[in-house]
Amino acid sequence: MKKGFRVALREVVRPSSFFRIHVRACRRFQSPFTPAKHALFTYSTVSKSRHSASVASRLLGATLVVACGITTLVLYPPVVYADAPIQSEGSLGRKIRLHEVKKHGQSAETKWITKGTRVYDITEWIPGHPGGEVILRGVGGAVDQYWNIFTIHKKQEVYDILESYYIGDIDLRDLVNGQVPAENVDDPFKSDPKRHGDLTVHSERPFNAETSTEELNKFLTSLDAFYVRNHLWVPRLDEFKHSLIVEMPNGEEKVYMLKDLKEKFEALKITATLQCSGNRRRHMTSEARSTNGLQWNVGGISTATWTGVRLRDVLADAGFPVDDWPDDVKHAQFMGAEAYGASIPIDKATDKRGDVILAYEMNGKPLPPDHGYPIRVLVPGNVAARSVKWINRIVLSDEESNSQWQRRDYKCFGPNVGGNPDWDSAPAIQEMPVQSAITSLRDISPNSQQDNKLLQVYGLEEDSIVVEGYAYSGGGRRIVRVDVSSDGGRSWQQAELLPNEAKGAKSWAWERWRWVLPRQSAGRCFVVKAVDEAYNSQPDNYEPTYNVRGNLTSAWHRVGYRPE
Ligand code: MTE
Repeated sequence: MKKGFRVALREVVRPSSFFRIHVRACRRFQSPFTPAKHALFTYSTVSKSRHSASVASRLLGATLVVACGITTLVLYPPVVYADAPIQSEGSLGRKIRLHEVKKHGQSAETKWITKGTRVYDITEWIPGHPGGEVILRGVGGAVDQYWNIFTIHKKQEVYDILESYYIGDIDLRDLVNGQVPAENVDDPFKSDPKRHGDLTVHSERPFNAETSTEELNKFLTSLDAFYVRNHLWVPRLDEFKHSLIVEMPNGEEKVYMLKDLKEKFEALKITATLQCSGNRRRHMTSEARSTNGLQWNVGGISTATWTGVRLRDVLADAGFPVDDWPDDVKHAQFMGAEAYGASIPIDKATDKRGDVILAYEMNGKPLPPDHGYPIRVLVPGNVAARSVKWINRIVLSDEESNSQWQRRDYKCFGPNVGGNPDWDSAPAIQEMPVQSAITSLRDISPNSQQDNKLLQVYGLEEDSIVVEGYAYSGGGRRIVRVDVSSDGGRSWQQAELLPNEAKGAKSWAWERWRWVLPRQSAGRCFVVKAVDEAYNSQPDNYEPTYNVRGNLTSAWHRVGYRPE
């Protein structure tokens, strides 16, 4: 990346200080530009200077515009009206009916939005919007609900920008108690799919739900029971219209439709586990201290066999020298159609045995909408946050993705560091540590025909207990041993690793394991810990790895047992 461009990019990705400087400068020197217009001018210049700058703008959407929104969205469902004060410059504009606003939607030449009861023509602002095209979701209607998701908007600099596009007020005839009626406000989640599966729901909007313990007892998770982690809404896409743009370091682009990918490249099947970095966060909270974020139990993890084409092949086709690339290309950035973004090191993206694919099928079926239809990147061995769903752009760059989810949320700090860390001081999570959990604990008896068959396999004739679970490690590191205890960790046995038919160059999928023991020898607290091929194991408690975000929670899993 050229130095000048990097400087320009920095300007783009730090709008708040940038705006502050301009606001002050404009006031002092009586600039002919209002601060907002001046900012727009600068944004547009930057974004036209090179195509990547518009990418930077889009990334900024995922970094700054979205920044605080996620927590807000999870904790508070969107409400219709933003509380933020718009500094009214007087109601000099005309009275505008809501049906007129509606006409200025996505397909109109001039695009309007309302905020509170005021109307704005933001046509000129759209190319410079730091959040990129996500702004188009709001045009032709109210933006209040989006600003309640992307709360970074709620500051004076942004109000100033908006005010410079003021054109009028909503006609009083369209207001109820001085407000736009709820039915006139777009719901960003309205096109989210219906969910039917056996999932434990943590939040509806955005939808976040974990796999039930019954499904966790299978090697491959059913599609409608696969855990869902959405930060925003589910974009409704059509595989015949959806395109994927691959942007080279020099700004050149190549566009692929799903059909092109299927026709041009060899299809590959990879069995891989996806695990959220907050899987088992609930255990860190209950065994150490409180943590922020969704309180996942053991089901923020699932496994599927994915079909797709190698990212490496696509990058090579787009003109990238995948075996010998320039040193300054360090990351492959991925963008999702709704505004999410993340990146992985370029070595992983191009590794022949890294098995990174652009996936379009899961367990032999097209990806369901919640899991990235029509296409997502699958980065086996890495935290699932890097497997970007609904992918529509790949950028090869010297920088990591600027998104919130790359630069902030999915990082880990020491147990002493509070909720306001120096985010830049820690690397983004990529490969995950070794993990295991108990997913089933049941009594069996020789009196049952079915149980008896199982007992015979283990040479047992008495009432027994079957303990089952999963074990997984990041980076494709194979699970070599699963240690189990029924007395809280004082004595240990090795569980049996169950056979599976995982596909892929490395161990990208979890191992399912089983331990059967006579009931009379069982204690009151079952524990599991796993060991991977690098002899990594799990810590015995949560204090040493405690972090406020509750990431990478992998201490021994303990489950109490009470005989019937
Ligand atoms: N991709 C997009 N576009 N949007 C998202 O919200 N969530 C990420 C990742 N990819 C996300 C995304 C996170 S944090 C996780 S854990 C996985 O998707 C979850 O994948 P799943 O919902 O298919 O289980």
